[in-house]
Amino acid sequence: MNMDVIVSLSKRRGFIFQSSEIYGGTGSCWDYGPLGVELKHNIKRVWWRDNVQLRPDMVGLDASIVMHPLVWKASGHVDHFTDPMVDCRECRRRFRADQVDELPWLHFCPATKGNKFTIPASEPCKHCGARRTLCPECGKGELTPPRQFNLMFKTFMGPVEEDAALTYLRPETAQGIFVNFDNVLQSMRPKLPFGIAQIGKAFRNEITPGNFIFRSREFEQMEIEFFVNPHDQLEGRPADEYWHDRWIDDCEAWFVRYGMTPGNLKRHEHGADELAHYAKRTVDIMYRFPMGWSELMGIANRTDFDLKQHAKTSGKSLTYFDEERKEHVVPYVIEPSAGVDRALLAFLLDAYREEEVRGEKRVVLRLHPELAPLKIAVLPLLKKRPEIVATAGELRSTLAREWRVVYDDTAGIGRLYRRQDEIGTPYCVTVDVQTVGDPDKGEAGDQRVTVRERDSMEQIRVPIAEVPAVFRELLGEGSWSRVSARYPRAKA
Ligand code: GAP
Repeated sequence: MNMDVIVSLSKRRGFIFQSSEIYGGTGSCWDYGPLGVELKHNIKRVWWRDNVQLRPDMVGLDASIVMHPLVWKASGHVDHFTDPMVDCRECRRRFRADQVDELPWLHFCPATKGNKFTIPASEPCKHCGARRTLCPECGKGELTPPRQFNLMFKTFMGPVEEDAALTYLRPETAQGIFVNFDNVLQSMRPKLPFGIAQIGKAFRNEITPGNFIFRSREFEQMEIEFFVNPHDQLEGRPADEYWHDRWIDDCEAWFVRYGMTPGNLKRHEHGADELAHYAKRTVDIMYRFPMGWSELMGIANRTDFDLKQHAKTSGKSLTYFDEERKEHVVPYVIEPSAGVDRALLAFLLDAYREEEVRGEKRVVLRLHPELAPLKIAVLPLLKKRPEIVATAGELRSTLAREWRVVYDDTAGIGRLYRRQDEIGTPYCVTVDVQTVGDPDKGEAGDQRVTVRERDSMEQIRVPIAEVPAVFRELLGEGSWSRVSARYPRAKA
C-alpha cells in the first residue's frame, strides 16, 4: 500500500488537509476536513464507549493542556524527554542523530568529477566507495556533534514572558490523570483495580516529523491509566503483570474488531535500552505502515513511578487505602496509550481497496460501519422529478435524526455510488420512478426505495416506512445477509 494514494484521497475527498496550506503549510501539522473530522470523532466515540462506558471499572477525565510546570519536572519530562539531535553547519537542517544513517544521502562524487548522486540509506557510493560523513540533505555541510533536544513546546502563562511564567504544552495526556488521582479517588470512591481514561491533544516538537499524520507535532491521544494493587495476586502472578498482559490482548483485539487485518499487526517487546525512564515493561502494538512496521500504540507498566514522583514533588499523599489489609498503598499503573491520528491512518490504509467491477476500476474504503464518516447517502435518481426530490429530501431529514446522512444529486447514479464507495459510506438509498410512480399517467408508486450495500454492491427494495428500522438493524447488531433475505432484490 502506497502512502501517496491515501494522502491524495484524503485531500481530494475532504479527510485531511495540510495545515495553513494557503500560506505554504506548516511543518507537519494537519487539519481534518469534513469527512476526516467525522472519522476521527467515530474512532474516539467507539473507543470511549468500549473502554469507559461499557466497563464498570473505568471513569473519564478531561484535564487541561497547560499544567503547572512542576508537573513536568516531577514526571521526568524536563530532564529526560529528549532526542539526540545534530545540525548541518551549512544548510542548518536538523536530524535525529539516531536516524541520520537511515536517510538516503546526497553525494558529490570525486571519482566522477563531482557529479551529484542520491545514494540509498547506509550504502557506499558505488563509484568512489565513500560512505556518508556530511549532511545527507545538502551533501556539503559537516554535522555538529549530537546534543540532547527537549521535545516539549515551551510557552508562557500570563502576560509576562519571564522564566517564572515558563510552562509547557503537554507532551502526553497521562500526567493530567496522575495529578487528579486523589480528586477521582475522593469524588468517585472507586475500588482497585480501576482506570481513568482521557482523550485529548498532545504536542511534541519532533525533530523529524513525517509520514503524513503518523508523526506530527500536534496530535491526539487516547490514554488509560489503569491502577492496580501491587500486593494482589491474580492467577498466581503479581496483579500488575496479569493486567498488563490482559490490556495488551484487549487493545490488539480492539483494532481487529474495527477492521484491521490481523496480519498487519504485531507486537514489539521493548528491550532494556528502549524502555522509558518510568517503565518496568512496555509492549508496542505495531502496524505494517507503508514505510514499514511502526508503532501504533504502546502499553506500558509504569509501576508507581508517577504517583510517587508527584507525591514527593507536591508534598501531597497519593495513596489508596486497602481496606482488607488496612494499609495505604501506592498503586501500580498499566498504561494503554494510543494515538488517534495513527489509528485513523491505519484504519484508512487497511480499508483501502482497488477492485475491478464490470471492467471498471472501483475504489472502495471498506471501513467498519461504526467508523465510516457517513452512514447513509440518499440519492434521487432524477432531480427533475419534484416527487422524487421531495421523497428523497424527506427521507434524508428522517434518517439524519439518527445518523450522519448525505444527500447528493450532482451526477448520474453510477458516479454517485462510486463517490460513496470511495469514502466508505456503507449504505446508499435510491429514490426512483418506481418509488413515486407517475401522477400524469395515473400510476401509483410502490413506495419502496433501493438500499445498496457497499461491499457486496447488492441491492434490495425496502418500503419507505421500514427504512429507519432497517438501518437501526444494519447499523446496530444486524447483518446485511439477515436483513437482505427479508426483501426482494433490486436490479443492480
Ligand atoms: N503516555 C505514554 C506515551 O505518551 P508514547 O509511546 O510516547 O507514550 C503514545 O505515545 C502514542 O501516541 C504512540 O503510540 C502514538 O500512537 C502516539 N504518538 C506519539 N507521538 C506522536 C506523534 N508525534 N505524532 C502522532 N502520534 C504520536
